[in-house]
Amino acid sequence: MTISMRRLRMNPVLREALREHRIHRESLILPLFVVEEESMAGSIFSFPGMERFSLQALPEALEEIVSLGLRMVLLFGIPRKKDPQGERAYREDGVVQQALRIGKSVAPSLLYITDVCLCGYTTHGHCGIVVDGRVDNEATLPVLAEIALSHVRAGADMVAPSSMMDGQVRAIRRRLDEAGFAHIPIMAYSAKYASAFYGPFREVACSRPQFGDRRSYQMDFGNRWEALREVALDIEEGADIVMVKPALLYLDVIREIREHFQVPVAAYSVSGEYAMVKTAAQEGFLEEKPAVLELLTAIKRAGADLLITYYAREIAQWEDIR
Ligand code: PBG
Repeated sequence: MTISMRRLRMNPVLREALREHRIHRESLILPLFVVEEESMAGSIFSFPGMERFSLQALPEALEEIVSLGLRMVLLFGIPRKKDPQGERAYREDGVVQQALRIGKSVAPSLLYITDVCLCGYTTHGHCGIVVDGRVDNEATLPVLAEIALSHVRAGADMVAPSSMMDGQVRAIRRRLDEAGFAHIPIMAYSAKYASAFYGPFREVACSRPQFGDRRSYQMDFGNRWEALREVALDIEEGADIVMVKPALLYLDVIREIREHFQVPVAAYSVSGEYAMVKTAAQEGFLEEKPAVLELLTAIKRAGADLLITYYAREIAQWEDIR
């Protein structure tokens, strides 16, 4: 008889024992949106199942997250007001900074990661400082460093620069080191593609660009080697973890990075990926739980160590995840 895995698969104990990749709570990162303006809190139509938390509602939400066994959150802030320079992104009393202080006091066991970017804070909605109608890379770097430092001072355990400016990791690393925060790691959004799958996120974060698009700084989805180059540069600049975003359509990129570099890889299963499954499940076209587990396990199989997913809370509620 030929040698086959069938004999092993037929036995459920062996089938499970031999599974190479699985989802576990400890490697999930839950994105959280925090609003400064209480009236903006609550659910939003274009992002089913997700909500914005007010600072007042945050303690309860964080306690629930801890009770579910989740360990890591990624914070996004939505300020009360925006301005062209995104000044509210680095104020001591900014929304993320306040959220961090609250989080550290009510749920100190969680790991707090912060998104370091400008798009949610600028009136034009771009991820950098705009000079003469263009996103100015050099002018943006010190601002990003300032944002990261303000997050760390407020309690962030790790910062995640997502603006795709060249040199952002180095600028942030230097600033943190100088300020005595050499121990704080950086998770860089290294291979971030200009994607149509960020739609629901931009609604919830109010970060849609008001002119043009992000293709001058985010990567072209037709490219692969460029991702390796971005990752190599970020590692050289001091990234401790590199990220691929989106995840589902970029499994080849995740795999290739895993094989080329000895560094932890995070994958961000973005809002559009979540929305596809969520809405299909709500319509009854897909069975949600197996679809989610298959999708996220595939991202792990591709080579991701950490998964950023809007499904983290639901997954943690499923007793028998495997
Ligand atoms: C900020 C940022 C974006 C996301 C996370 N950080 C999107 C963007 O470029 O507009 C998207 C995440 C998602 O869609 O879930 N630059």
